[in-house]
Amino acid sequence: MIYFDNAATSWPKPPEVAAAMVQFLETVGANPGRSGHRLSAEAARIVYGARAAVAELFGVPDPLRVCFGHNVTEALNLALRGLLRPGDHVVTSSMEHNSMMRPLRALERADVALTVVPCSAEGVLDPADVAAAIRPDTKLVALNHGSNVCGTLLPVAEVGRLCRQHDLLLLVDTAQTGGAYPVDMRADAIDLLAFTGHKSLYGPMGTGGLIVGPRVDVRQMEPLKRGGTGSRSEREEQPDFLPDVFESGTPNAVGLAGLAAGARWVLDRGVAAIHAHEVALTQRLIGGLSEVPGVTLYGLRDAELQTATVSFNVEGMLVNEVGQRLDEDAGLMCRVGLHCAPAAHKTLGTFPSGTVRFGLGALNTVAQVEESLVAVRALAEEGR
Ligand SMILES: Cc1ncc(COP(=O)(O)O)c(C=O)c1O
Repeated sequence: MIYFDNAATSWPKPPEVAAAMVQFLETVGANPGRSGHRLSAEAARIVYGARAAVAELFGVPDPLRVCFGHNVTEALNLALRGLLRPGDHVVTSSMEHNSMMRPLRALERADVALTVVPCSAEGVLDPADVAAAIRPDTKLVALNHGSNVCGTLLPVAEVGRLCRQHDLLLLVDTAQTGGAYPVDMRADAIDLLAFTGHKSLYGPMGTGGLIVGPRVDVRQMEPLKRGGTGSRSEREEQPDFLPDVFESGTPNAVGLAGLAAGARWVLDRGVAAIHAHEVALTQRLIGGLSEVPGVTLYGLRDAELQTATVSFNVEGMLVNEVGQRLDEDAGLMCRVGLHCAPAAHKTLGTFPSGTVRFGLGALNTVAQVEESLVAVRALAEEGR
């Protein structure tokens, strides 16, 4: 079996991840930070370990700025709905996932003004176009860091500097880059960093969160939910400090035990080493696919300027057919269609039929890339 669907979720996970989760369930199990007994304290220590690992991965000095939730979708909703009020203006790109676009479109109906800056047909965002979109009422720029459709990287650090010049906040969706590409919240001038645990952080599904930088006034940001936090229990009002202000209810502690192990695995290998491995695989994949007659590739087609996600079409075949045949004939798992990102496909010119997407990960090999090229070549010959 060849698993090339890491852009949707990474698999397999490093064995340490399941081991940490089993250990949590079998030997800890208690509710973190709620009770004073030793198992609760141990659960809290494990959750803090996940916070510390995630903070280290994104260059954040204070782990308490990491607010856990279920995934990047929840984190983006928290940031957008928490910050934006009627009369505010927000800038985004035409390469966004629906996790960004749908909350923004809903806010637009609630009188938040939205500018979607068009990207090129390769998914490239020009920071000058972002600068031109800024208005006196602009509060936030909200961007993904790497396209989940074709892998194109967005110029987050340049836009971050621009935001600082204009005293705006920058929200970044790191779903496709966190753990696989260097992201440094301070160096990249990111104010709100949304991450998901189950992709290149190699944790389980149901983990993710929002890192809130020091330029954000937390008291001006509405939580998505309020409730028990295990802190300030004498008060009927929500605490106003991080991370408790945004973390009500019992957390997914077993998931966070797995996330801690996944993020530590990434830190031990090193993001730079993982990135170098993925660049080598992507280079070979792009090079091989571009030599197959009948295959059309999308995006920049340059492994150094994109993530390890590659989108293509095969002449004479529908994307569903390609996906099904790759699974049946070659045991290759990938994703086809619109990848929850209609705006990105409109930008690339692949809407509404979509593309075939290979999402490579740290555990894929050159041999798998070679096998996949043989499989695509066979299909392309049939399609012609
Ligand atoms: C760029 C981007 N944003 C958001 C998401 C949503 O991730 P999750 O389902 O973990 O919330 C994804 C997942 O595919 C993504 O690729």
